[in-house]
Amino acid sequence: MAYRSRIIGTGSHLPDKVLTNADMAKLVDTTDEWIVERTGIRQRHIAKEGETTSVLAFQAAENALEMAGVTAHDIDLVIVATTTPDNTFPSTATKVQAMLGMENGAAFDVQAVCSGFVYALATADNFIRSGQVKHALVIGAEVFSRIVDWADRSTCVLFGDGAGAVVLKSVEAEEGEQVGILSTHLHSDGKLRDLLYTDGGPGTNSTVGHVRMLGRELFRHAVNNLASVVDEALEANGLKAEDISWLVPHQANKRILDGTARKLGMGEDRVVVTVDRHANTSAASVPLALDEAVRDGRIKPGDLVLMEAMGGGLTWGAALVRW
Ligand code: UT7
Repeated sequence: MAYRSRIIGTGSHLPDKVLTNADMAKLVDTTDEWIVERTGIRQRHIAKEGETTSVLAFQAAENALEMAGVTAHDIDLVIVATTTPDNTFPSTATKVQAMLGMENGAAFDVQAVCSGFVYALATADNFIRSGQVKHALVIGAEVFSRIVDWADRSTCVLFGDGAGAVVLKSVEAEEGEQVGILSTHLHSDGKLRDLLYTDGGPGTNSTVGHVRMLGRELFRHAVNNLASVVDEALEANGLKAEDISWLVPHQANKRILDGTARKLGMGEDRVVVTVDRHANTSAASVPLALDEAVRDGRIKPGDLVLMEAMGGGLTWGAALVRW
C-alpha cells in the first residue's frame, strides 16, 4: 500500500471590485479591442484597501474546508503560493493559519510566481506520499494589482487579484492504482529570470518593485515549455491526450491556452477558461479555475484533470489528477 493525495474540497474568492477594459482605457493608452484580441481578457477583479493576500486566501480556504467537510483542526500543513505576501515576513501561510484558528501543524509560503500553485501542490503531495501529513491545505492567493506599474500599459492590463484553495487528504492505494494526484512535474530555468521580474526586492533595494516583462519572448517559452511538461506528465502515467477530461491551465493569455490545447488536439469544450473574467491572477489562477469547474459540475468523480502553469523564474510545471 502507498499514500496518495486526494483533493476532497476546492474553494475560491474574488474581490468585489471589477475593472473592465473600458475602465483600463481611462487609465492608460489602450483599447478593449487590443486587450481582447491579444489576451482574451475582458475584466479583472481588484482588491480594495485592507483586502490583502491573507484575507483572500482565508476566504478561499474556508470555502474549500466547507466542501471537504473537515475543519481547520484536521489540517496539519498549510502552504500558500504567493508573490504578493502581506509582509516580507512572516509568511502569509502563518497568518492564514492563525485566521483559521489552527493551533497545530506547520505553515509556509512557496514562491514560484504564476507556477506557485502547481509547486505548492507538488510540495504538499510529497509530504502526503511520505506519510508525514494527513490533511493539507494548499492555497494560491495574490494581489498582483499592488505590484503592477499602473502607468505601463504593456503589463497593467494583464493582471488581477484573487485566491483559490484545495484540501488534500491522505488515502491508501495499491501500488500503481490511479488515485488522486497521479504525478507532479516541476521545472525551472534561472537563466531566463529577466523575462519576468520585479525591479525591486527587500534584499536588493528595500522596496517591493514593479512587474517588468518581455512579453513576446515569454509567450514563446510558455507555449513550448507547457507543451513539453504536459507530454511529460502524460508519458509518466502511460496516458494519452485523449484520456484527459479537463485541462485546467494557468490563465495568462487565451492565445497560450488555445496553443496548448491545439498541441494536445483538445477542443475548447475540455479546457477551463477564466482569463476573460479574472485576467492573470498568478498563483491563484489554476485553483480559481479548478474551483469554478468543480462547483458548476464540469469536473466529476473519475475525470482525469491536467493542471499546468508557467511563470517568472522561469518556472513551469504540471499536475495530473484522477478526480
Ligand atoms: O503568467 C506568466 C506568464 N505570462 C505570459 O506568458 C505572458 C506572455 N506574453 C503575452 O501574453 C503577450 O506577449 C502580451 C499579451 C503580453 C503582449 O502581446 P503581443 O502580441 O506579444 O504584443 P507585443 O508585446 O509584441 O506588442 C505589440 C504592440 C506594441 O506596439 P508596437 O511596438 O508594435 O508599435 C506595444 O507597444 O502592442 C503595443 N501594446 C499595447 N497597445 C495597446 C502593448 N500593450 C498594449 C496595450 N494596449 N495594453
